[in-house]
Amino acid sequence: MHLTKDEEKILNGEEGETRRRMMELLVVLGDLSGAEKLIPISSAQISGASYKTISEAGVEFLEEISNDAKVTVKSTLNPVGMDLKDWKTLGISEAFATMQMRIVDAYRKMGVELTCTCTPYFVGNRPGKGQHIAWAESSAVVFANSVLEARTNKEGGPSALASALIGKTPYSGLHLEDNRLPRVGVKIEMQPSFDDYSVFGYAIGKKIGQEVPLITGISPEEDEHKALGAAMAASGAASMYLSRKNHSACREFDTIEEIISIDKEEIRETREALSTTTNNVDMVTLGCPHLSIREMTSVAKFLKRREPNRKYDSWFCLSRGVAEQCPRQVEILRRFGKIACDTCMVVAPLEKLSKISATDSAKAAVYLPTLCNQRVLYTTRKELLELISK
Ligand code: F3S
Repeated sequence: MHLTKDEEKILNGEEGETRRRMMELLVVLGDLSGAEKLIPISSAQISGASYKTISEAGVEFLEEISNDAKVTVKSTLNPVGMDLKDWKTLGISEAFATMQMRIVDAYRKMGVELTCTCTPYFVGNRPGKGQHIAWAESSAVVFANSVLEARTNKEGGPSALASALIGKTPYSGLHLEDNRLPRVGVKIEMQPSFDDYSVFGYAIGKKIGQEVPLITGISPEEDEHKALGAAMAASGAASMYLSRKNHSACREFDTIEEIISIDKEEIRETREALSTTTNNVDMVTLGCPHLSIREMTSVAKFLKRREPNRKYDSWFCLSRGVAEQCPRQVEILRRFGKIACDTCMVVAPLEKLSKISATDSAKAAVYLPTLCNQRVLYTTRKELLELISK
């Protein structure tokens, strides 16, 4: 990979050991991906923020590099393992909270904005069409590429952090126009409801692997895109899709080699397969990915005239930035469960609090069993709200 003189200086350690290590990582990743050079980025989204996922070694690493490094571009943070203010209300232990705060302090010291969300595009990190970025967090990556038309590969925690500190990323993968063209068409042969989008995403991700699909027969709103992309990235390796209302759009792209269909029956079967249990739920979770203002409004509207069903504990997961923008909705939801800002049902230590969780997110249904040791009831949002209210 060609490096500029300034980049070589960093690689030679002339700007400190941390920047040298970060540049070295970018160069290795660039060489592996066949990049010809590094390109400047306008923002980074950094994962590896929950104590549950990075453990003690990760905390020590972050503290070490925070002593001599600062981010050089707008950098936002993924959800951490607890609500940074109300962690006691969520049932988080003192020991966990202490370690989590060390992580947060290290990121703060490096200049990372403590957005603590997987939906940075709702709280000020919303890149424009064609902008090169380096984002970790697969659901946000798909949203950025597919909805915002920004350009990012699916970065890991270390590579997103390296890009945030250096301000650059390897010019490869989805940064290149040719790699953003669809190779497979996916026809949706049904009229979808909001709850179907997460199931579509899961079914499509399983079928297409890491190809870019053109999905036809849908015209999603942003929240539906959010659900679809998160599920697609959870079941497969895709980091981007295109979508069009008309099936004839497949003819626009001579790169499409195969067209597959998804119908009602397949959606029904996929929905069923996402559940590992059907009853005895002890935790109801909403907000994977984090809830938008629009979702908060529709959930609050549904719950407003109902009474809480105390049989279930419930978490509404969202960014603090979104919560601050809809205080009336937050107050209504608080009557029915816990407002879990800064965190989510997957990266918090939910395994200490619950054994059987209900969710309307296919991504959460994938990760709750493996990362939180949960059995899962996968169902619609309306049914979740009916569980926690009467
Ligand atoms: Fe976000 Fe947590 Fe889901 S990070 S996408 S709410 S698993």
